[in-house]
Amino acid sequence: MKKLLVFALAVLAMVGRVRADEGMWLPMFVERLNYVDMQKMGLQLTPEELYSINHSSLKDAIVGLGSTPRPTGFFCTGEIVSEHGLLFTNHHCGYGAVQKLSSMEHDYLHDGFWAKDYSEEIPAPEMTASFLIRMEDVTKDILGVVTDDMDWEARNVAIAAKIKELQNAASEDGKYNPVIKGFFEGNEYYMFVYQVYTDVRLVGVANESIGKFGGDTDNWMWPRHTGDFSIFRVYADKDGNPADYSADNVPLTPKHHLPISLDGVKQDDFTMIWGFPGSTERYMSSYGIDYNVETFYPIIIDIFGKQLEVMEEFQKADPAINLMYADSHASLANTWKNFIGQCQMLRKNKVSEAKVRLENNYKKWVSEDANRKAEYGEALPNLMKAYEELGHISKFIYYPNFVAQAGPAGVAMAFMPYYNAMEKKDKDMAEMVLAQLNEIDFNEMFAETDPQVEHKTFAEMLKLYRNAFNEDELPEFYSKVIDKKFKGDIDAFADYVYENSVFATPESIKAFLAKPSKKKMDKDYAFMVASQMVSILKENRQAYAEAQTAVQENDHIFVKGLREYYAATQPGKSLYPDANSTMRMSYGSVKDYMPADAVHYDYVCTANGILEKYIPGDYEFDAPKRLLELIERKDYGVYADENGELIVCFLSTNDITGGNSGSPIMNGKGELIGLAFDGNWEAMSGDVNFEPKLQRTINVDIRYVLFIIDKYAGATNLINELDIRKSEPQPLREETEN
Ligand code: ARG
Repeated sequence: MKKLLVFALAVLAMVGRVRADEGMWLPMFVERLNYVDMQKMGLQLTPEELYSINHSSLKDAIVGLGSTPRPTGFFCTGEIVSEHGLLFTNHHCGYGAVQKLSSMEHDYLHDGFWAKDYSEEIPAPEMTASFLIRMEDVTKDILGVVTDDMDWEARNVAIAAKIKELQNAASEDGKYNPVIKGFFEGNEYYMFVYQVYTDVRLVGVANESIGKFGGDTDNWMWPRHTGDFSIFRVYADKDGNPADYSADNVPLTPKHHLPISLDGVKQDDFTMIWGFPGSTERYMSSYGIDYNVETFYPIIIDIFGKQLEVMEEFQKADPAINLMYADSHASLANTWKNFIGQCQMLRKNKVSEAKVRLENNYKKWVSEDANRKAEYGEALPNLMKAYEELGHISKFIYYPNFVAQAGPAGVAMAFMPYYNAMEKKDKDMAEMVLAQLNEIDFNEMFAETDPQVEHKTFAEMLKLYRNAFNEDELPEFYSKVIDKKFKGDIDAFADYVYENSVFATPESIKAFLAKPSKKKMDKDYAFMVASQMVSILKENRQAYAEAQTAVQENDHIFVKGLREYYAATQPGKSLYPDANSTMRMSYGSVKDYMPADAVHYDYVCTANGILEKYIPGDYEFDAPKRLLELIERKDYGVYADENGELIVCFLSTNDITGGNSGSPIMNGKGELIGLAFDGNWEAMSGDVNFEPKLQRTINVDIRYVLFIIDKYAGATNLINELDIRKSEPQPLREETEN
């Protein structure tokens, strides 16, 4: 016994030294950068089994979910889990598609949906699945077109042309969708060659009271009891090639699918997550952080907060409006809460201060050498200036932009090209624009929104704008129209617009298109709001764009210097590039955390928490009766853990961000143990700086997913299709002499 124990301690000590957690790594470099670490932590696969361009490998089961046939980025990740192209992703990733397929008669968001066989699966036209065929380093080709005499703009033009050329060459006449992206702020370039499947069908989704249990109150937080998964299937033509929807298409036979493990998780178990993280800012300067916290995030929080308030008022009152705005509401609420969390946690975790310390060391290193001073000396001061400019100008960009999009002002914007053509007396242009406007189905366009919601949003955005600016900064219509003609009453003004504007209803638009005139637009208050907001945008656009360009250019120089600085001062450190919607691998382990002094958060939560949180009839914490009964009876079947409890979600230290949603979390054998779906509140600053002590990924346990499919929904057809594994329980081994 003793001998074994000593050995076990030695292994633990070794494991303890390995610290991966942070980093979203490119799978192509796994062997060189990560493999040794991963193996020490518990990985049992070979590098070839993880990423290979010659044989099938784990990467072939990971798909990027896009909304177009040739996506350059992905809103979520999915994984293939059967030899018939079955795909798991998050509930919140399938949400938009499920909303679009729903109606008041068939409200799949509310009621759930389970196809009993292939014939019942429903095409989700706005969802595509991209498989990565290969990736390659094209830095030399791309940066080869840059010459010393090019300024930043000329450089970007030359790079864009080269990117297009290489992408075209790799597409093999449209067979593939090659995408080239810049890494480390344009200091490296890689090409990703995808095969994009456009026939993706909805197979199964639980009621949103399971899939979104806890709603926005629990969003971005632990403990979490959300069954955040949905199920789709990828279809192909008879030869396995991508094809648009056709009744003749067949389920895709994938190169690889993930087996599923029922073994569950224990503290410190090895975990890896593969997927398509969207964007991080790990190399952002302190100036960028300060600008976000002080200016940019507060503006967006202000605007989105108000928009959400209006939506919610009407959504809670009317189920049809609730369904209509479900997806817009969820994504606004998600970003809104994220920005609030980032403001709080960037401050609390003192991220800007940490960056200042790094920048001071870096500046010292730069100043020690004349060449370095010449190349890198100006980048940080330039960044400071550029962000200062953005700090002044941003409100003149974001507020007008959102007001100009609100309600009838937003519709009027579509008619601005006609107005401009008429003003220039360009008859041909005006005709052309009118022809395009006549193509638009305004009935359909208006059917996607509710007039009450749009009306109130329009009024509230105008009020918000008035609050955000000084009187002398307001566009003219506030004093000349709202104050003079409506005694400053913005609601009365909005009512008037809705009764009288050309752009308030499809009927009035059609009447206008039958007899279009510039004069009518001159007198139209919705158009007046839109055009005066656009004037403000135009006045500030150039300065804003210049500051943004200065940020990009100087970030490029700063990060180039920073990489040199790290190489010189910390030669053992491997750097990973910021997330940019390309395939990444992150590895870590199952782990609890302490969110505050004296508070300990366990790394798993159980179905008992659903009973605790349950509020009958509530917008966020209602739950289906059948689920509650199963939990009361602890009727969990093979999905229970060793104590007879049902684990719902668990935590791991993997480094992920938005876009990773739906990603598989796997054990050392590459078996699926859950789906990653969120980050935690205390580390909302994590996109800018990884917080090892606090930062966790929230995963839905695969046993809860299977329990819902099997015991709750009775979709045994799907269970039978999966490759489910359970290891033999390991007997406690006595040490034997032989
Ligand atoms: N926070 C999750 C993510 O960004 C999305 C959760 C969506 N749920 C919601 N209640 N809006 O991946």
